[in-house]
Amino acid sequence: MALIEWSEDFAVGIPEVDKDHQELIEDINGLYEQLGSGRDELTVMDFLTAVYAEAREHFIREEELMLEQDYQDYEDHKAEHERFLERMGELMGESQDDVPTEDGGISLWLSHWLVNHFQVHDVRLHNLPDKNTKEP
Ligand SMILES: [Fe+2]
Ligand SMILES: [Fe+2]
Repeated sequence: MALIEWSEDFAVGIPEVDKDHQELIEDINGLYEQLGSGRDELTVMDFLTAVYAEAREHFIREEELMLEQDYQDYEDHKAEHERFLERMGELMGESQDDVPTEDGGISLWLSHWLVNHFQVHDVRLHNLPDKNTKEP
């Protein structure tokens, strides 16, 4: 079962950001499916480590875009990203390899955080003035 189902409600209206979000969701779902699924089995720690890396790369790209566009809430948005990575770091510190995921604890938090972040923070990026289209 997928951890997060992409929905058009998550779209922020900037093709490169939406594509990045879709790829992030796909990658997280792929990793999630490997958790406890036979031969390719990932440990919870492998899963968290991979998700951390994927999310961090996405945040870096998004923050670069915000800087390029002089996004005014850059600091707040970046702080949200940092809080997420900090929490992931804490979970990785607490986790044992045999932590069950079926209870939805970590995975539920992860999917709720991402969906909420797309809809509350990332969606505000679509109001960025597109400087490229302003050039004569
Ligand atoms: Fe973001
Ligand atoms: Fe994002």
